[in-house]
Amino acid sequence: MRTLIVVESYFGNTTEVARTLAEHLEPARVVPVAEAPTEIPIDVDLLLVGAPTHDFSLPSANTRKQALDKGGHGQGPGVREWIASLTPRDLPVHTFDTSHAKRLSGSAARAAAKALKRRGFRPTRGPSFHVHGRSGPLEEGQLRRVQEWAAALVDGHRP
Ligand SMILES: Cc1cc2nc3c(=O)[nH]c(=O)nc-3n(C[C@H](O)[C@H](O)[C@H](O)COP(=O)(O)O)c2cc1C
Repeated sequence: MRTLIVVESYFGNTTEVARTLAEHLEPARVVPVAEAPTEIPIDVDLLLVGAPTHDFSLPSANTRKQALDKGGHGQGPGVREWIASLTPRDLPVHTFDTSHAKRLSGSAARAAAKALKRRGFRPTRGPSFHVHGRSGPLEEGQLRRVQEWAAALVDGHRP
């Protein structure tokens, strides 16, 4: 199973989740969304898409600016724009996100799954991993949840 993990992150937490996933899903590659291909390479057979939850959804130009104003780093295009430019392909796709709140009426993982579906993919919405405040770090126990999710993905996609 070759996994491509496309990630958007301003304070590094979603990237940390992506890197931890990659360690447990080898062979896997983490690519910042600004450098992600708009055609998923043919040798990729599992796609994971992660972003921070901003205003109950995927980051937008407006929330991205707010994140930068608060000391975050990074620039567009984000996952929202990347999905809109993607060429559809039939492969397993799962979304994930980071968020501050534990109970969300909307999340980046949910918004990404909806957008991917509209784009012609058949995505599964994955978990939200929790951070302290706006900029993190990840709360205690979250990297264990990441590892558990990675193990479930391996089980679920074993040939
Ligand atoms: C502009 C902005 C809006 C946010 N909105 C939400 C929100 O609606 N719900 C939430 O739980 N966290 C919210 N957060 C916290 C982010 O989810 C948190 O910054 C993110 O998980 C950190 O991930 P990163 O380090 O990869 O950027 C917001 C953060 C910013 C900067």
